[in-house]
Amino acid sequence: MASLEQTRQLVTEIPGPGSLELNKRRAAAVSHGVGITLPVFVARAGGGIIEDVDGNRLIDLGSGIAVTTIGNSSPRVVEAVRAQVADFTHTCFMVTPYESYVAVAEELNRITPGSGEKRSVLFNSGAEAVENAIKAARSYTRKPAVVAFDHAYHGRTNMAMALTAKSMPYKSGFGPFAPEIYRAPMSYPYRDGLLDKELATDGELAAARAISVFEKQVGAANLAAVIIEPIQGEGGFIVPAEGFLPALLDWCRRNDVVFIADEVQSGFARTGAMFACEHEGIEPDLICTAKGIADGLPLSAVTGRAEIMDAPHGSGLGGTFGGNPVACAAALATIETIESDGLLARAKEIERLITERLLRLQAADDRIGDVRGRGAMIAVELVKSGTADPDPELTQKLSTAAHAAGVLILTCGMFGNVIRLLPPLTISDELLVEGLDIIAEILGNL
Ligand SMILES: Cc1ncc(COP(=O)(O)O)c(C=O)c1O
Repeated sequence: MASLEQTRQLVTEIPGPGSLELNKRRAAAVSHGVGITLPVFVARAGGGIIEDVDGNRLIDLGSGIAVTTIGNSSPRVVEAVRAQVADFTHTCFMVTPYESYVAVAEELNRITPGSGEKRSVLFNSGAEAVENAIKAARSYTRKPAVVAFDHAYHGRTNMAMALTAKSMPYKSGFGPFAPEIYRAPMSYPYRDGLLDKELATDGELAAARAISVFEKQVGAANLAAVIIEPIQGEGGFIVPAEGFLPALLDWCRRNDVVFIADEVQSGFARTGAMFACEHEGIEPDLICTAKGIADGLPLSAVTGRAEIMDAPHGSGLGGTFGGNPVACAAALATIETIESDGLLARAKEIERLITERLLRLQAADDRIGDVRGRGAMIAVELVKSGTADPDPELTQKLSTAAHAAGVLILTCGMFGNVIRLLPPLTISDELLVEGLDIIAEILGNL
């Protein structure tokens, strides 16, 4: 395959005629329950570019929602997948196992924080990892309740929906939801700071507010697990105040409650560390991973303390496709690529490039309420001028205009007013800067 030129190029309107045609087929054949951010049909992708069926080349600031962190069709992954497909595509690990599943578990046990004995189990999606982390925590503690946080997103299966905070579009009309789920206030420095400056900077204070919910509304005797995204994803890339996560973990340890870090979006080098919880120096009991784990092949995992992971009875965990050999080959190549190509350092460089630019923009535009995030996971929260009121309309206009100009950005946030930037770590500085210039110019004209 000819290499994909790393320049933005628009040869038609966005979406072009080829995409419009395919979109008609999509509308006739695919459930309308599947929303589409940008109806441009993809022909190829790699580096920092997505090329569509009309020959347009878009700057990729989304990575397929934080998945292709090491770049689409990354060379080691392509080679490993080709070799594995030629050997065998599936046997089911629960029937006749194969080495690559074990090797992925060994690698996950090695690269996740914590030096104690660990175990891993593999699944297909982030939601499945979350479901199974809860199963392990309940088996281990023999308690029923789970606490999740305001603004949380944990997926679309029944338990994951129950843990997710936002009603539309994730939950509305899909209940009843799994019982015994409680919700605690998140540390959200930007919005907490509007009420109480100390709460915005003192993570322990914000943790005390959440712990009061654990103690008064649930009770430690009933609580199996606290699940939290160390940096919230769909909720708006909310980075909790320093000290928040360690204080929660400390409370969990003292109360026989399993602390689950959902690193589905924030894991695998995205934030400049292999896992976002490393920025706070914490060692969660269990970690859920997915998205960036296998460069786009469907794979997820739960990794954690051996005594918790071994608590479920034999055959209590698993699934037909979990830890598929092709996905395992891709995961091993992904981990090797992150480590050999210095991608943690690259994520930090990207953080510097993006935040410097966005902070300059913010200084001149009071509609940028907050700039936050780590590594190649940075967000801008847009508000109405002179206030902190969320501005979802401005966010939508900015996103639509960026798409028309050939820059793929995503939105998020409980109030729909956050632009999130998730470039692949293989994007060139030139493309990244061009993408940021275009976003800045559009915002200036809105
Ligand atoms: C933090 C987090 N947890 C879980 C999920 C669900 O993952 P999946 O869509 O693979 O089921 C997501 C997906 O966006 C996520 O961001």
